[in-house]
Amino acid sequence: MAYAVELPGGSELSERAGTGETARLADGTVVSIRPITPADAFRLRRMFDRLSPESIYHRFFSPVPLARRATLLHLAGVDHELHESLVAQCGDEIVGVARFDGRRDETDAEVAVIVEDALQGRGLGTLLLRRLARIGAKRGLLAFRAVMLGENRAALRFLRRLSPDADVRFDGGEYVAYAPFRSPSQVPAPAPLR
Ligand SMILES: CC(C)(COP(=O)(O)OP(=O)(O)OC[C@H]1O[C@@H](n2cnc3c(N)ncnc32)[C@H](O)[C@@H]1OP(=O)(O)O)[C@@H](O)C(=O)NCCC(=O)NCCS
Repeated sequence: MAYAVELPGGSELSERAGTGETARLADGTVVSIRPITPADAFRLRRMFDRLSPESIYHRFFSPVPLARRATLLHLAGVDHELHESLVAQCGDEIVGVARFDGRRDETDAEVAVIVEDALQGRGLGTLLLRRLARIGAKRGLLAFRAVMLGENRAALRFLRRLSPDADVRFDGGEYVAYAPFRSPSQVPAPAPLR
């Protein structure tokens, strides 16, 4: 996303060597941001129990409760290479999750993010996505792809603010966005074909 690799504005961010970062949200809530681990499966389940059906539906495109064991293990068990997921933790609870899923030899990855309802609108989604984009860029990604339900105008507005250069298309009731980390003029032209 165009501005996603910059340090987040409006939040105090401090590096803690090796353990992630802490950030203060707009309302003063302090969260720690770190990569997900398999031990987070139970925290994820508790987070899903607190989420509204609407937030779950907008993130997973499914109304069913997603607390099944296999789903939780899939979400918590990433390889930290092609697949990455960052969590925001407040106390012992996970309150936000951002994830990308890349494909070998591809320079873009599908991204998704969810923030606990009670903490939405305080900058946490922005913080997670910017941090995730910075990691993606270090791993050679050039862009995120995102799919949003047509009814999810808040997510579309969120994406457009974060990535004004994003190419957004409406297809089959969904918005499909391609959001480059940098503006096209900053991306080096591909080498000429021989
Ligand atoms: C979409 C989603 C991830 C955004 O997360 P969030 O934490 O609410 O995002 P932010 O707080 O960073 O930004 C949301 C709004 O709050 C505002 N905001 C952010 N920081 C703020 C601050 N310090 N003071 C006042 N407002 C602020 C932003 O301007 C933003 O408004 P905009 O998006 O209309 O431009 C969240 O709404 C969510 O989890 N939705 C359900 C799942 C979903 O739809 N996921 C997307 C598809 S995968």
